[in-house]
Amino acid sequence: MQKADNSPAVMPRHVAFIMDGNGRWAKKRGMPREYGHRFGVKAFRAVLDHCGSLGIEAVTFYAFSTENWKRPRREVDAILGLMDNYLAECEKKIDEYAFRLVFLGDKSAFDDKRRARMEALERNTAHHKRILNIALNYGGRDEIVNACNRLIAMGKEHVTAQDLTQALYTADSPELDLIVRTGGDLRISNFLLWQAAYAELYFTDVLWPDFGPAEVNAALAEFSTRKRRFGGV
Ligand code: IPE
Ligand code: IPE
Ligand code: MG
Repeated sequence: MQKADNSPAVMPRHVAFIMDGNGRWAKKRGMPREYGHRFGVKAFRAVLDHCGSLGIEAVTFYAFSTENWKRPRREVDAILGLMDNYLAECEKKIDEYAFRLVFLGDKSAFDDKRRARMEALERNTAHHKRILNIALNYGGRDEIVNACNRLIAMGKEHVTAQDLTQALYTADSPELDLIVRTGGDLRISNFLLWQAAYAELYFTDVLWPDFGPAEVNAALAEFSTRKRRFGGV
């Protein structure tokens, strides 16, 4: 795959972003949390563009967790509304970078219109080889439980790690190499629990709306210095 001139020597195949800190970014400016989410979408677009042009094979964004329903209704509606706007016009861009869009998470929580839009985007981009995962109503525990139930429904009485991997929402994604979390908290927050087994973790205090191509490059540069042993020597 084509590399940008300044890309690091060792490129991850699959990078995932925990986009955190929109609320604090808005608060610092004396604005409501929803204002932070609007600028969060701008950062998301810029980071996606950058990852697209770097040629990273699979990119995952954590947009809304199974726990985020606990937030005030107004904020939940604002986040999902921004997502609807994005879904209405993202197809061209996704095609441009030859991404296949996959939604990670339980779509049954969404109304018919939003779900139909999500499924149409998945279908329309299914011919592409690169993967863009957007985690929406996603929880790592929920994903594993859902995978177990799928395997039971298939009549399995004994499962292997490979069976489970194939029953997850990320079945078609390459192994996860790098998780980037913005916003300064040092935790996983129920994200890609199974997939994170040997992923490298990168935490930054930068709040998500301030995160952009330069910060992606810093994370990739750090990744390329990591010694990955996978339990070996
Ligand atoms: C965005 O950041 C993450 C989402 C759930 C959309 P937050 O909204 O969690 O912002 P902080 O962490 O409260 O600053
Ligand atoms: C993680 O951020 C979820 C997303 C980025 C969508 P949160 O803000 O929900 O995580 P906690 O509550 O700080 O663990
Ligand atoms: Mg947060």
